[in-house]
Amino acid sequence: MSSDPYSDRGNADKSITNLDGIGSAQPVKGDGSAYPVDGGPFLIGDTMTGGYGAGPDILHDCTIAVERGEIAVIVGPNGAGKSTGMKAVFGMLNLRQGHVRLDGEDITKLSPQARVAKGMGFVPQTSNIFTSMTVEENLEMGAFIRKDDIRGTMEQIYDLFPILRDKRKQPAGELSGGQRQQVAVGRALMTKPKVLMLDEPTAGVSPIVMDELFDRIIEVARTGIPILMVEQNARQALEIADKGYVLVQGRNAFTGTGKELLNDPEVRKSFLGG
Ligand SMILES: Nc1ncnc2c1ncn2[C@@H]1O[C@H](COP(=O)(O)OP(=O)(O)OP(=O)(O)O)[C@@H](O)[C@H]1O
Ligand SMILES: [Mg+2]
Repeated sequence: MSSDPYSDRGNADKSITNLDGIGSAQPVKGDGSAYPVDGGPFLIGDTMTGGYGAGPDILHDCTIAVERGEIAVIVGPNGAGKSTGMKAVFGMLNLRQGHVRLDGEDITKLSPQARVAKGMGFVPQTSNIFTSMTVEENLEMGAFIRKDDIRGTMEQIYDLFPILRDKRKQPAGELSGGQRQQVAVGRALMTKPKVLMLDEPTAGVSPIVMDELFDRIIEVARTGIPILMVEQNARQALEIADKGYVLVQGRNAFTGTGKELLNDPEVRKSFLGG
């Protein structure tokens, strides 16, 4: 890889990202909860163990990560803990063991809000838009932590998803499934995140819309935003993945490049339909 990790992605528009911010996270001094790690993935949930509230552990030594300039994909059967892993990385779960690090900084103890302020964008699997608000209001809500002028970012999102510009005054609940997912991704991009986490961005859409969404996701990645995403369309997702994780019952079952997983006979047989 060259010294510029984004150069091989044909970067057309870095302005939406916040590249200056990458590498700027400082270790927190004093409270012992943060320490710098040289190199390593940009975002990692490292050997995470934990569950919901006082309930049983759902994740068992589970590791998911994304490198700078890459797309990482998490696949696995229903109930495998994919969403739970994403929530753990975003700070919605109390981990009993393991750590989450963003750009080398230990953020395990931070709230989801604090993680957004650090540069994380998250599109959850469900309830990821405000259906009674217009498209534009959804995007404005996404920018809640910003004090500066958000119009430029909104224009970039309308350039990425032109249909949203046409429908900006419509309640988001009136949009098609694929268009709603565009609103959800757009909303997360409004904070100019340094990393984007997507939980099943193509759920419930037709194959054609799925292809379009994947193209837009690749486009976002090319602007320099690493993407960690869960996908039910495992084969298609692994085709665009630099790194893939197969989770089974809260554990890492297989990990490799997208290509390695697509070519692994066991992964093919058990998770890709042969
Ligand atoms: N809020 C919750 N409280 C308690 N248990 C939960 C909660 N959400 C999920 N679980 C449990 O955690 C386990 C993993 O669920 P999770 O939603 O992470 O799986 P998943 O891999 O995302 O599945 P899917 O492919 O259906 O989205 C399941 O046994 C589920 O019942
Ligand atoms: Mg899920």
